[in-house]
Amino acid sequence: MTKVTTVLTFLLTFFTTNPAYTASAQLQLKPVDIDLSDKASLQRGARTFMNYCLTCHSASYMRYNRMGKDLGLTDEQVKASLMFASEKVGETMTIAMRPDDAKKWFGSIPPDLSVISRARGADWLYSYFQTFYLDNKKVMGTNNSTFKNVGMPHVLWQDQGYLQKGTNGDLTRLSEGDLSKDEYDEMARDLVNFLAYIGEPSKIQRLALGKWVLIYLALFFFVAYPLKKVIWEDITK
Ligand code: HEC
Repeated sequence: MTKVTTVLTFLLTFFTTNPAYTASAQLQLKPVDIDLSDKASLQRGARTFMNYCLTCHSASYMRYNRMGKDLGLTDEQVKASLMFASEKVGETMTIAMRPDDAKKWFGSIPPDLSVISRARGADWLYSYFQTFYLDNKKVMGTNNSTFKNVGMPHVLWQDQGYLQKGTNGDLTRLSEGDLSKDEYDEMARDLVNFLAYIGEPSKIQRLALGKWVLIYLALFFFVAYPLKKVIWEDITK
């Protein structure tokens, strides 16, 4: 066998048998469509985030006023409806909980969520919020089939209700929440959309700018092409 085929065989075996790579293939992620230009969705996601997540998780790369500007909100609107943990809109999204306490209470420290969307991806996050289920063996009373034995409780249970896990591993509904299934799916999507936004805030401007760059290039073509024709006229004759 040549060296090349040896290396190829090794790589192939590694990627198909290494648990780190096959585990993600077994995990069936639910796909989600996120849209950073959907300001209303981002605003709803921000509200869910501030209400439900910012007690345990920080987003310490994100400032309130930056978020307000990107989401089309004034500083006053941000202060009135989205700021519970801080005083000034120039502050970053930090929390009061001490890491030591968190470790005592949950067994693990809630990570900062600034760039979680880049670490996990949108589909993973969406699936995560869809797959909490009741598990009496856990201290928190719930487990999660996307993140096995997670230390986080199902904080959105009032909205979603509770799911239970059947012997075949499928999750089925045990109790209703305040929201219908579609409404909860929308809530989870808005939240993931917001997490994707804080993971890369400048993407909103890039997308908006990109459109103008393409329009500019298209218009410039109509100037450049006749010009090229004139300049090359004598040479190509
Ligand atoms: C009561 C505290 C608490 C609240 C509230 C909470 N979380 Fe968590 N979260 C945790 C803990 C603790 C972990 C770490 C779990 C582990 O490592 O086992 C965690 C883990 C996570 C993870 C997985 C991180 C990773 O390692 O990939 C994500 C994503 C997440 N939380 C998002 C959220 C979002 C979004 C909200 C709001 C809807 C939220 N959490 C609310 C405590 C909390």
